[in-house]
Amino acid sequence: MTRWDFNRLLLTQMQRRRLLIGVSGLTSLAIASQFSRRVVAQPRFSDYPFKLGVASGEPLPDGFVIWTRLAPQPLNGGGMPNQDVEVRWQVARDPKMQQVIQKGTVIATPELAHSVHVEVQGLEPNRWYWYQFKAGNDTSRIGRTRTAPARGERLQQLTFAFASCQDWQNGFYSAYRNMAQEELDFVVHLGDYIYEYGPDFSKPRQHNSPEIVSLADYRNRHALYKTGFHLQAVHAKFPWIVTWDDHEVDNNYANLIPEDNQTREEFIKRRANAYQAYYEHMPLRLSSLPKGPNLQLYRRLTFGDLAEFFVLDTRQYRTNQPCDDGLKPRCAEALAEEATMTGKEQERWLFRGLERSQARWNVIAQQTMMAQFDFDARSDSETFNVDQWDGYVAARNRLFNFIQQRKEVANPVVITGDIHSSWVHDLKTDFKNPASPTIGTEFVGTSITSDFPAQFIAPVTAALANNPHTKFFDGAFRGYVRCQLTPKQWRSDYRVVSTILDPQAPASTLASFIVENGQPGAQRA
Ligand SMILES: [Fe+2]
Repeated sequence: MTRWDFNRLLLTQMQRRRLLIGVSGLTSLAIASQFSRRVVAQPRFSDYPFKLGVASGEPLPDGFVIWTRLAPQPLNGGGMPNQDVEVRWQVARDPKMQQVIQKGTVIATPELAHSVHVEVQGLEPNRWYWYQFKAGNDTSRIGRTRTAPARGERLQQLTFAFASCQDWQNGFYSAYRNMAQEELDFVVHLGDYIYEYGPDFSKPRQHNSPEIVSLADYRNRHALYKTGFHLQAVHAKFPWIVTWDDHEVDNNYANLIPEDNQTREEFIKRRANAYQAYYEHMPLRLSSLPKGPNLQLYRRLTFGDLAEFFVLDTRQYRTNQPCDDGLKPRCAEALAEEATMTGKEQERWLFRGLERSQARWNVIAQQTMMAQFDFDARSDSETFNVDQWDGYVAARNRLFNFIQQRKEVANPVVITGDIHSSWVHDLKTDFKNPASPTIGTEFVGTSITSDFPAQFIAPVTAALANNPHTKFFDGAFRGYVRCQLTPKQWRSDYRVVSTILDPQAPASTLASFIVENGQPGAQRA
């Protein structure tokens, strides 16, 4: 196979289409090919092109995705010429890249903002690898990543961290500085990787444009976040499994319904822009290449016989928030049969996967709080956040009934972001009745930086007495959750930083909870 043929295999569908159309006006640097569209093999850049770092993700037993984006001017459109550029990559067995075991060339195209997503295959399971990119005369930093254990392999331990909500403006990524020091197999990001808002000059640092709408806006915003030094360090050290929440597009959007006063046509275009920029900046597989305003994100990842991860997308297919959204008593809409977080197809996929899973721990990685929580401290009235599963009660009941009826779904654990605060819940078949069966456990992680208003802490604390299934709440601290799984036990450590106003702030463990195999519900460690 010639190098050019190999390149073509790696091209995305979008790139292929463009190849056939062809472009003109390329420089003499371009190498000749049988196509009218040519590729620059030795590009010259206006500045260092790997300023956004490297990343990896989607670990399988035989490979993973490695990612980078050429962007010498990352905050201003990337600063790349409107040309295809060759990027070379290598995977090695050692941190100094001396034992290279695979290498290749991939084409970075303007259509995908000169991002590259290489799906490396044919590797050994359950071990570390190192990787690096080169374009022109510039080389990227060396990233480290890991393959998943072989399917069915008897695994004694798995360690990961999950994170969400990293509003650039609200503070610094000290949480990521500490996460980079952890010994983890991978990182799960549960959404709000970026925020769409314009600059807020009352905050410690500012966004780089008014509220983002166009593709160029979303690209520049992702690039701003990716310049975060400690965020880059965590991407370079572990593979990531990512999903999104609302702010990757627009606060509390549901399917094609925006928060703002946009027409449906305007929002379809905006969602397409947001989804494309998301794909361009995340270590996702080609199967997640967006098609207009749609992107396939929900998926399953398996870690030996120990854990199966069901990564959900609860924004793209959901029905509108009931009762006009917000914190309020439930209206009839919140109980409607057809109200859905996941859409029918994803729900069927989830149930089928749970039923077939052979794993000891079945992890549902998703966005908004799944447990019921009555925010009203009075016992004779109720207040729910209807953007959470509390606004989609029938869908939650279907899932819980399914788990309860099929006892073979081993140890369901839900991990959640969105609410910028730390919680632990027992998942009950009837939250009103403390004596009803507990069918699973939910760990809700706090934000990396995003705000949990201090004035909410006292009312939530006062409401805890009405929610006996809630074992823990903290609104004061930012951080992430480190989870250690063995065949016998799940342990969640709530790792929090002392402040987000100092990028160097240290982390400590605020609280730890365990779940014993076969005993749904959390206990203080
Ligand atoms: Fe958030």
